[in-house]
Amino acid sequence: MKPREIVSGVKWMGVIDWHRQLFDALIPLPDGTSYNSYLVEGSEKTALIDTVDPPFVGELLENLSGVKKLDYIVANHAEQDHSGSLPEFLARWPEAKVVCSEKCRGMLIDLLALPEDRFLTVADGETLSLGDRTLRFIFTPWVHWPETISTYLEEEKILFSCDFFGSHLATTDLYATDWCRIHEAAKRYYGEIMMPFRMIIGKNLEKIKDLEMELICPSHGPIYDRPELIVKAYRDWVSGPLKKSVVLPFVSMHGSTAKMTDHLLTALVERGLSVHPFDLTVADPGKLVIALVDASALALGTPTVLAGPHPLAANAAVLVNALKPRLECAAIFGSYGWGGKTVETLTSLLANLKAEMLEPVLGKGLPGPEDFSALDRMAEELAGRING
Ligand code: FEO
Repeated sequence: MKPREIVSGVKWMGVIDWHRQLFDALIPLPDGTSYNSYLVEGSEKTALIDTVDPPFVGELLENLSGVKKLDYIVANHAEQDHSGSLPEFLARWPEAKVVCSEKCRGMLIDLLALPEDRFLTVADGETLSLGDRTLRFIFTPWVHWPETISTYLEEEKILFSCDFFGSHLATTDLYATDWCRIHEAAKRYYGEIMMPFRMIIGKNLEKIKDLEMELICPSHGPIYDRPELIVKAYRDWVSGPLKKSVVLPFVSMHGSTAKMTDHLLTALVERGLSVHPFDLTVADPGKLVIALVDASALALGTPTVLAGPHPLAANAAVLVNALKPRLECAAIFGSYGWGGKTVETLTSLLANLKAEMLEPVLGKGLPGPEDFSALDRMAEELAGRING
């Protein structure tokens, strides 16, 4: 993709990765992604904001082929999808300085072995003049790593936010015109990247609340020409009301846990709750994460395998535990043949959750009337807590 002008003197220079299917060797990318890089040309100095994932360095260098002098490369974030091309850029423009936070400088030296004399570190709120344009650096930690900052172009009122407000979405749309699609992609991204740090994300939202913004330009996904939409969505995800919904991930080997899942799902729906079931043998973990962002409860179903939870259920518990969703309550149910420590193991894997753990239901063999009654009680307790 060739450079695209956003406003006079400011260009999108990034690349679109239509084919990437996994991020961090963990997160499915059903719609690919983009690595957005932005060129800001002032009357005296020129700055590039963020670079691209190393496999695409040639494409970005080609986009910059007409740029004779590059003074600054702003590294909002040290992760390699934005910083990994810096060695090539510093070689191509030997006069350029990497502009970043002190913490980012240390990480870039550790990760990329960049020369120590190629940095210009900035403080929170510091400005950098490009002549008739001014960059202001706003520290926004933990969007996604601790060193992250955002860069504000004062004259045009553009916030370059890197991962903050981003979405993994490959599209030819420069702007977020298809809001429903963007909303889901951004929610998936928030859940996978930001949710564990939501308290700090909330502080970052507070920090930028009075900033006049015409555009938010993230480093993944389309540009927001109505910044208020994504800011409001973030506010909702961080601290808005939870939905009266239950996330129901399950795995079943011979049908017992599946029968229990069906019964619990029906019992929850009968009590007015929305339920999101996920068969863990085929589920997209990203969809599970989206549902967790504003769900009130989790009910995790598993058979007992080799004296413990099924590995897919254990994996789901590890993921939920790492992402720390705002769940009010959680429950474990499932089946066993002769014994084991399924409940104890899953409970320990969910130790980070603030959610109240309800009485588990573990049935022996095929579920019978007592098991179904116990699941009805579980549904009643979940509904009671969620419906207040
Ligand atoms: Fe897009 Fe945290 O890197």
